[in-house]
Amino acid sequence: MAKQEEVFKKLISHCKEYAFVFPSSEIYDGLGAVYDYAQNGVELKNNIKRYWWESMTLLHDNVVGIDSAIFMHPEIWKASGHVDAFNDPLIDNKDSKKRYRADVLIEDHLAKIDDKIAKEVEKAAKRFGDSFDEEMYKQTNPRVMGYIEQRNAIHERFSTYLNDSDYEALRNLILELDIVCPISGTKNWTEIRQFNLMFATEMGSTADSSFKVYLRPETAQGIFVNYLSVQKTGRMKIPFGIAQIGKAFRNEIVARQFIFRMREFEQMEMQFFVRPGTELEWYEKWKDIRMKWHQALGFGAENYRFHDHEKLAHYANAAADIEFKMPFGFKEVEGIHSRTDFDLSRHEEFSKKKLRYFDPELNDSYIPYVVETSIGVDRMFLSILAASYAEEDCGEGDTRVVLRLPAALAPVKLAVLPLVRKDGLPEKAQEVMEMLKYDFACRYDEKDSIGKRYRRQDAIGTPFCITLDHQSLEDNTVTIRYRDDMTQERVAIERLHGIIAEKVSMKSLLKKLK
Ligand code: GAP
Repeated sequence: MAKQEEVFKKLISHCKEYAFVFPSSEIYDGLGAVYDYAQNGVELKNNIKRYWWESMTLLHDNVVGIDSAIFMHPEIWKASGHVDAFNDPLIDNKDSKKRYRADVLIEDHLAKIDDKIAKEVEKAAKRFGDSFDEEMYKQTNPRVMGYIEQRNAIHERFSTYLNDSDYEALRNLILELDIVCPISGTKNWTEIRQFNLMFATEMGSTADSSFKVYLRPETAQGIFVNYLSVQKTGRMKIPFGIAQIGKAFRNEIVARQFIFRMREFEQMEMQFFVRPGTELEWYEKWKDIRMKWHQALGFGAENYRFHDHEKLAHYANAAADIEFKMPFGFKEVEGIHSRTDFDLSRHEEFSKKKLRYFDPELNDSYIPYVVETSIGVDRMFLSILAASYAEEDCGEGDTRVVLRLPAALAPVKLAVLPLVRKDGLPEKAQEVMEMLKYDFACRYDEKDSIGKRYRRQDAIGTPFCITLDHQSLEDNTVTIRYRDDMTQERVAIERLHGIIAEKVSMKSLLKKLK
């Protein structure tokens, strides 16, 4: 098994063992691509949401939040294009009876060629040492040039067919590239068919009065249909934004990679309403703001990149993803889309209500253009866990698993640990708990050796362990042990609040966004 794949498997087990994520309905053998957040997971998830929410609503005085319902009038999904165009191109293998997304099969093939290029470059870098010039090598080495040429040619055809929705050509490309089903190993493919990703249910109790409603596939439409009410009641002036966090549902076909692609997931979306003609300028600004938000977490700029969309969604005139280097490669975590006036114009058409904004500076009314930032909470959660997870050799045959979570996001900020369960130490430790628990998520633990207790806290990413010993009873000092370098320091109990507050506050993270 490749090393990265092995790490990913360990991460999934870690999530279960240390109460971050459980498979949904596990006692009934689970439900495909649906997961539950456990006691530590929900705290981390809430902190991620808070980081996003506060960065949007506190740091931008022209962004406000809403919380719209999951059920919406079914016409909304016709207007938005989701009923007609929210489809995946699916292909079945007749031998294994397995279903795949046709575009993913080709993307996987391209990724294999990318891997070959990367391996050649890696080998050459080792061979040439410091004098190695990667760009020059790619432009001159015949084997690498061949791979690049092959990749670009496939890529060009792939994006043309996808953009033109030419599914016959896409299928022929799969056959021509000898792409086989990973299960049966054959090329016995069906035609490509369109499959709508929205879940539907019935609203109403009688056969006559009930009608079909959808579980929203994105939270954005809740913002669009409320935009004018928010603008009027809040006396908002363009440009302004509306932020929302909420559940979304998609009947994903290729649901895999743990919480990366789920059928029920959560989005954090912000629609920014701007004057027509200024949208691409705002699009660039928001790309910048959002990249900074990710990088402020301190996992290293090299782990993020932008990826421009090959195929623009039916509503966009520009779109890019922010990708993070997951254990299974660079993958989309967030999308930034210039959605034009598509959604609002369609809602005006379908609802027959005027959705124009009166611009006092221009003395004119128009439908605003929209730049959207859309990030999946679950993918963000996965990226943070993947970046934080480390297995470390502590010397003398000792090892530890540690989650180096940013302190502001850690589910537990500090653990209070009496060295022994007697001599008044538990009582003293409870006094420390009482002093700190109103401001920080604290955990009290008196079971097992102190070493084992430190390891338990490392495994859930607790940045501080506060240990009380007999000296604590005499001089009101404790040992504070730092998760990342395992160093310890003796400090007065009265200093604890200040030391911890400075490191774990959301403010310290938000201030990096200036
Ligand atoms: N409103 C625009 C929109 O929904 P999207 O690119 O389809 O755009 C935005 O989704 C983000 O939502 C993605 O970048 C991803 O983080 C998250 N997301 C989408 N589908 C998901 C799924 N099935 N499971 C988990 N997260 C998902």
